[in-house]
Amino acid sequence: MVTRANEVLSVSELAQRIPAGDERFLLGIAGPPGAGKSTLAQRLRDELAEAGRPAVVAPMDGYHLRNQVLLARNAMGRKGEPDTFDVAAFVADLRLLRETPVGSPVPWPLFDRAIDEPTDGGVIVRDERIVVVEGNYLLLTDAEAPGWAEVRGQLDACWYLDAPRPVLTERLLHRHTAGGRTPEQASRKVTDSDLRNADLIAASRHRADLVLTAAGRGYRLN
Ligand SMILES: Nc1ncnc2c1ncn2[C@@H]1O[C@H](COP(=O)(O)OP(=O)(O)OP(=O)(O)O)[C@@H](O)[C@H]1O
Ligand SMILES: [Mg+2]
Repeated sequence: MVTRANEVLSVSELAQRIPAGDERFLLGIAGPPGAGKSTLAQRLRDELAEAGRPAVVAPMDGYHLRNQVLLARNAMGRKGEPDTFDVAAFVADLRLLRETPVGSPVPWPLFDRAIDEPTDGGVIVRDERIVVVEGNYLLLTDAEAPGWAEVRGQLDACWYLDAPRPVLTERLLHRHTAGGRTPEQASRKVTDSDLRNADLIAASRHRADLVLTAAGRGYRLN
């Protein structure tokens, strides 16, 4: 498919870029915190469902280490950084998804923001051929964070969703204050944690098959 820079694609046009076939297809959506990855993944799933192509969202977020583990490692303050995830389990489950025939169940954990912990088997992938895997670190190499390089090999394609820094900042500040932090705490979390992670993630952008930024109801190709 021809890709023209600055072209704005609808979610339906993006869905059409996912090839037809019988084998399971894993599409990654990488990008910085607050870029809109979860939103795009859900929109794609809904669009694919309408087109008679069952799809499911399998977020990377469910592989957060539990708070008890982070506390024991004195890493609670760094929650969200690459080494605060169980990347080995994530890679193993991606491989399991690829190896399991469509129609057989594969449980997938979800992250529950209300309790700030993962929930095992939050979603069961079964009849969906297309799996949209979304998360921050899908395109990292081991030089950036040990263990993460194996993720890309388990994905059939990986897109990168970007957003301007001021947009990310505003969304993240809003999320953290809505989640109960004071404006000062929210601001510190954004500068000390989220935007530092965003810098690491930005270094992996060039590895994406497609780079997108939201534009109205659509997504602009970069
Ligand atoms: N295309 C869009 N246009 C306008 N607002 C959007 C768009 N996509 C997402 N948003 C808003 O941006 C915020 C962050 O979106 P979302 O939770 O999907 O980001 P994310 O990349 O999954 O973040 P995280 O990495 O932290 O999970 C939400 O408030 C969402 O409503
Ligand atoms: Mg998300």
